[in-house]
Amino acid sequence: MSDISSTGPIDVQPHTLRNRTVVIVGGTSGIGLSTAIQAKAAGAKVFVIGSNPERARQAAHTHELDGWRAADVTQPEHIQAALADIPKVDHLVLLAGTFVAGKILEADVAYLHRAFDERIWASVHALRALGDRLSKDGSVTFISGSLADRPNAYGTAVLAAASAAMEAFARGLALELAPVRVNTLSPGPIDTPILAKAMGEARDGFVAALEQTLPLHRLGTADEAAAAVLFLMTNGFMNGATINVDGGARLV
Ligand SMILES: NC(=O)c1ccc[n+]([C@@H]2O[C@H](COP(=O)([O-])OP(=O)(O)OC[C@H]3O[C@@H](n4cnc5c(N)ncnc54)[C@H](OP(=O)(O)O)[C@@H]3O)[C@@H](O)[C@H]2O)c1
Repeated sequence: MSDISSTGPIDVQPHTLRNRTVVIVGGTSGIGLSTAIQAKAAGAKVFVIGSNPERARQAAHTHELDGWRAADVTQPEHIQAALADIPKVDHLVLLAGTFVAGKILEADVAYLHRAFDERIWASVHALRALGDRLSKDGSVTFISGSLADRPNAYGTAVLAAASAAMEAFARGLALELAPVRVNTLSPGPIDTPILAKAMGEARDGFVAALEQTLPLHRLGTADEAAAAVLFLMTNGFMNGATINVDGGARLV
């Protein structure tokens, strides 16, 4: 019988989050807040940033996080101020964003700009604000979404483009910022406050219709999406990757 232990143990221990500093931009609600809670439970020092000060304060207070900041990520000087007094960041998670939807021939162009301002340009400004305060053995996680691969005809083309751009941006930065690892989470439909924020009372009808067509007949949870962010932060060989957490939504 062969001795399977003869090759010796392979060191695939995940990077621990214990005492590591995790900053989550968009960490005050939904996927970002679940990420904050899971990172805190794993022993990290967690700071969350959102645009609404009361929501940010409440999130940090309720979940005993290490700090909160209010900043509008579309404003470079807000990002600069929010990150100014955090001495070192091990894992930067950039999830802030709204559901920017408007048809290309009809919508206000300044509004459509937000899709890129909240994602690409906010990430550029956050990375520049941190500079060499981002740990070399740390990570950056971006957000995209299944629209990047499966757009629709309902006014989401610019958001789809911004989401796909995040994945390409991460791959470029995985080379440019190495050895800092840079990855992207691409969620499918996840049940978070973003749906009601975007659709108001139409949210329930939208969700019911979606549940009919999704392979698992349900939306994902913020915890399920956040677990993938934890994986991207802690697996030291994940780099330049996009993880789809979509319950198979891309297949239908
Ligand atoms: N849920 C989904 O089905 C889904 C699918 C694909 C992609 N995504 C993307 O995943 C990310 C997180 O979404 P979520 O579902 O967790 O939504 P959410 O519950 O609405 O959370 C969004 C977070 O981003 C923050 N934020 C939004 N605009 C901001 C701004 N201008 N400046 C600073 N913070 C801002 C929010 O803070 P405030 O509330 O204080 O503004 C909140 O913390 C978004 O980028 C979204 O586009 C979500």
